[in-house]
Amino acid sequence: MIDFHSHIMPGVDDGSSDIDMTMDMLENSLSQGVEYICATPHFIVGEYELQWEKYQEKLKLMQEKAEGKIEIIQGMEIYINPDLPRLYSEKKIWGINNKKYLLIELPMQQFPIYTEKIFYELRLLGAAPILAHPERNLSIMKKPELLIDLIEQGNLAQMNAGSLAGIYGTDIKKFAEKLVGMNLIHMLGSDAHNNTRRNTNIKQGYNRIKELNKDLYNWIIGHEKMILEGISVELPEIILNKKKKGFFSFFKK
Ligand SMILES: [Fe+2]
Repeated sequence: MIDFHSHIMPGVDDGSSDIDMTMDMLENSLSQGVEYICATPHFIVGEYELQWEKYQEKLKLMQEKAEGKIEIIQGMEIYINPDLPRLYSEKKIWGINNKKYLLIELPMQQFPIYTEKIFYELRLLGAAPILAHPERNLSIMKKPELLIDLIEQGNLAQMNAGSLAGIYGTDIKKFAEKLVGMNLIHMLGSDAHNNTRRNTNIKQGYNRIKELNKDLYNWIIGHEKMILEGISVELPEIILNKKKKGFFSFFKK
């Protein structure tokens, strides 16, 4: 089991405040059955530009404390910005396990008009963009074609386990379930920020995907190590037809 998105790195963003909290979060991950957890602090151009050296220093501290009980994987959650292709070329931003899959977030309420273009430019550079938690984006909720188009262009999507558990409310929970039913997500993350409400729980999310869409669950389990290793994957086919009606009628409620 892999947690592809977490803010376990202490004292670098709005996630874990110190190494003790980080250790608490990691203990919980272990108890959930997580083998690999990606430490993906925020990177926001002009606001919070985490440096490679500082990241490596904190990573080393976490790895020493974890004593090999759980694998901590490199990564970052990169806020969309037109400068991302340049920053990727200059190695100022890095992917999951320091390989090609880049976790990218959008503003919660919007879908910037340059999103597709930036993802495309990153793909031309050899990167493989992953959209973080699309189920929490208001524009995508209103217009799911935005996500469908991105995935059809070859991008991936990561869902927060908490969305399926309902921690962000009923609408997001229902939308997350719809996305699972349509094969519109490819990996799970806890997006943990602390050891209380936004914690590293993830098992329930995996179980829910298994209940809702066994084929997708098998795809996720069968491909997660490849994604970690930066290997290209063939995405599961998007399920549109018979579920389409139900999907769109959901938004009219
Ligand atoms: Fe996050």
